[in-house]
Amino acid sequence: MLSYRHSFHAGNHADVLKHIVQLLILQSLKQKEKGFLYLDTHSGVGRYSLLSAESEKTGEYLEGVARLWERNDLPEEVAFYINELKKINRGEKLKYYAGSPLLAVQQLREQDRAILTELHPNDFPLLRQEFAKAKNVVTKRENGFQQLKSALPPKERRGFVLIDPPYELKEDYELVVKAIEEGYKRFATGTYAIWYPVVLRQHTKRIVRGLQETGIRKILQIELAVRPDSDQRGMTASGMIVINPPWQLESQMKKILPYLTDVLVPEGTGSWMVEWITPE
Ligand SMILES: C[S@@+](CC[C@H](N)C(=O)[O-])C[C@H]1O[C@@H](n2cnc3c(N)ncnc32)[C@H](O)[C@@H]1O
Repeated sequence: MLSYRHSFHAGNHADVLKHIVQLLILQSLKQKEKGFLYLDTHSGVGRYSLLSAESEKTGEYLEGVARLWERNDLPEEVAFYINELKKINRGEKLKYYAGSPLLAVQQLREQDRAILTELHPNDFPLLRQEFAKAKNVVTKRENGFQQLKSALPPKERRGFVLIDPPYELKEDYELVVKAIEEGYKRFATGTYAIWYPVVLRQHTKRIVRGLQETGIRKILQIELAVRPDSDQRGMTASGMIVINPPWQLESQMKKILPYLTDVLVPEGTGSWMVEWITPE
């Protein structure tokens, strides 16, 4: 079943959190000269029109990236993310949103490379076309979870894997943990980030428990909620679980999350957390 389309959700509050964390990890990798591999297991199409019928239907970006677009008090980490989006908008108006592969490819240097996988029969051709001319980028219509076995360890011995499944199948909550185990076995020094939604808190807890049971150390959980947990339909929060995070990430996120919560959730129902699932 592949019914999830990211075009309905591009630029929402969950994308904002995910992509700020993603960019901070990439910035930290670039502090060393040596090249790295960026592996995006669930890429989507790379670029989204916020004027599309899908985007207009949900209007989710209006309560996400649009709330940051014209602010002049952005913390530097958030300003960096907005500037990366300004590059693809070429003007003052917010019309396009960059997905995780495009944000990442914008960061690559000569010595870095990316592998981008996407399974959807309509989305994959758009992804392939978006990066047809990009250097050091390979797009594959393959199962992203399998890449943790086939693409690791990278020859560079440095890398960042983003795992961002749609969770339309409940088994994704287990597959992300299995994927981490597979990846970690082959490449224990890599940085891995799992994006997760909070729809029902017990599903999120399954990921956390599963990761604790692997015995892997240095796992940081970062979350932004727009409403308290609920058993009604709908996503109340989202987060990123980062294995082997860069050392600055914890303090960077503790600094910017109060700002993001205030600006993205002016209704006052928001909250945030940064906690170690397992420390060093
Ligand atoms: C949440 S979206 C990705 C968004 C993207 N990472 C971003 O931040 O811009 C999830 C994507 O995974 C794709 N997908 C679902 N199952 C997959 C699988 N097993 N392997 C690769 N892609 C998959 C879906 O078609 C969808 O485009």
